[in-house]
Amino acid sequence: MAYYKYHIFFCLNQRDDNEQCCNNFGAEDKFNYMKKKLKSLNLYGVNMCRVNRAGCFNRCQEGPLLVIYPEETWYRLLIMKILMKLLRNILTMERKLNAY
Ligand code: FES
Repeated sequence: MAYYKYHIFFCLNQRDDNEQCCNNFGAEDKFNYMKKKLKSLNLYGVNMCRVNRAGCFNRCQEGPLLVIYPEETWYRLLIMKILMKLLRNILTMERKLNAY
């Protein structure tokens, strides 16, 4: 059994030169938002979700990015609200199924 149901990695790479990087698009703020939101929904911790910092995924032109395991699903952070709704729905559904 997985320790975390969803392990979410945000690229928070910051470049000092003028090359495109995820943190130039507010990745750090979105990382903090998601972590706080998951905690407020009681979806954070063992058997739930974990949000971690990551370095460059080498997909900088597509950023800002995050990836969720174990599904290995990539998201652009532009759809944060959709992602939060998706996570909440999945975990709520699983709680209901486990209650039977
Ligand atoms: S800076 Fe985010 S993928 Fe490279």
